[in-house]
Amino acid sequence: RSNIRHWKVDLYQYEGFWFPLQPLEGLLLAQDYFKPQPNDVILSSLPKSGTTWLKALTFAILTRSSFGESTNPLLSRSPHDCVPFLELEIGSNPQNFNSNVSLVATHIPYTSLPKSIISSGCKIIYIFRDPKDVIVSLWHFSQKLSPEGVQTSTTEDLDLKEAFELFCEGVSIAGSYWNHVLGYWRASLESPERILFIKYENLKNETIYYVKKMAEFMGYPFSLEEEVNGVVQNIINLCSFENLSSLEVNQSGPRQFLSGMVGENNAFFRKGRVGDWKNHLTPEMATRLYQITEQKLSSSGLTLHISA
Ligand code: A3P
Repeated sequence: RSNIRHWKVDLYQYEGFWFPLQPLEGLLLAQDYFKPQPNDVILSSLPKSGTTWLKALTFAILTRSSFGESTNPLLSRSPHDCVPFLELEIGSNPQNFNSNVSLVATHIPYTSLPKSIISSGCKIIYIFRDPKDVIVSLWHFSQKLSPEGVQTSTTEDLDLKEAFELFCEGVSIAGSYWNHVLGYWRASLESPERILFIKYENLKNETIYYVKKMAEFMGYPFSLEEEVNGVVQNIINLCSFENLSSLEVNQSGPRQFLSGMVGENNAFFRKGRVGDWKNHLTPEMATRLYQITEQKLSSSGLTLHISA
């Protein structure tokens, strides 16, 4: 299939993965024009895997000495305005695309990343999440988007069963889910010093541990003094779902998600919990995702520890 209507947009297949047109064009431009600095950090993920949270945490870690507790830009700007998406934003100024904070986010699969990312040696943090929560989150997210000029959701809304079916077949933005995760996983085995693999569920359970790990990985470890002064905890509190989702800037206000596709900033914040899939997927759907995951990941050495 060369293209398919999904999530209210047409998806096109490129190098085995599915993209809406705008990020696909951005991906192609990035191949030619993106020139990362060696100390840039690339935040990579599938949509709905915790990208917003990862952007906020890494931004807060890197900028911690520039801002006080009450002056951090995250208090007045969406994490998505603090850290740009490479493939969405490079189109506006390809030759001069840069990020002010050495952080760039992307949903591009590992094998289609601009070669400059690999050759520059810059680091990559990859966040992934239980596919059951990803599909549920993705489906809710799509309900919040409308084509520009249309006030409410249209009849184009997919029902969850349909969306689930396509997801299982590997048709979702930047999917297949499994191939995306496996691409980064294999690369992280080859270069563990360059790619940090983080699971949303682990970040939820052991936030302090992973925030410190990310800071070390990015080359900005917390000093003992900072730890004693509660800097790590302050960053965690600033970036918590409860805090970010309660900030005015993240509650409403229009946002263009893709060209021609609009919604509100609050679409990035729904529940922020582990296991909400239980409220939406049938046991049969859960078993199916479990089985696909087992089959796709067998022999990769990666275990997602998801339940059936
Ligand atoms: P849910 O829909 O399950 O609530 P992404 O940022 O990759 O688009 O992922 C969005 C998912 O991450 C949503 O999941 C959203 O609620 C959750 N999320 C957003 N900010 C978060 C935060 N600060 N902490 C934990 N989860 C967060």
